[in-house]
Amino acid sequence: MRVLFVCLGNICRSPAAETVLRERLEREGLAEAVTVDSAGTIDYHLGSEPDPRMRKALRARGYTQWSRCRLVQPQDFFDFDLILAMDQQNLLDLRRLCPRPELLDKLKLAASYCTRHNVTIIPDPYYGQAADFEHVLDLAEDLSQNLIQAFKTQTPLT
Ligand code: 4NP
Repeated sequence: MRVLFVCLGNICRSPAAETVLRERLEREGLAEAVTVDSAGTIDYHLGSEPDPRMRKALRARGYTQWSRCRLVQPQDFFDFDLILAMDQQNLLDLRRLCPRPELLDKLKLAASYCTRHNVTIIPDPYYGQAADFEHVLDLAEDLSQNLIQAFKTQTPLT
């Protein structure tokens, strides 16, 4: 299974979700079974580490590794099984980028895997406060727990 998280800048939400899911998979001994990555729809921060506010929030929860910003590309629709958008704008941008209509089924809202929080999107914390970064991590932990449960029980992801 290969999962790609996508947000706008790839420095706040999607790298955080990538880190949370990957490190939780590692703790469960499932790191080999699932590939996790993230990408952005804009290129302003190419090559950058996640935003310092997000790195601080991740560290405070015990997460230690993160990737650098990259741009999402049409090839990602072939390379990943599940492409998880953070909000409706990401979803629209990804639909436009998708190279073949039959690959659109891979595209979902990440928040659709949240069960402890009643949310439809993962809101952009970039212009927000520390609490907004914490909220992103709360949602990333919620959806990661459910994705891992689905991987473990091999429940088809819908
Ligand atoms: P992200 O947040 O999409 O969660 O990474 C943002 C990061 C940067 C910008 C906007 C949102 N920006 O406009 O530079």
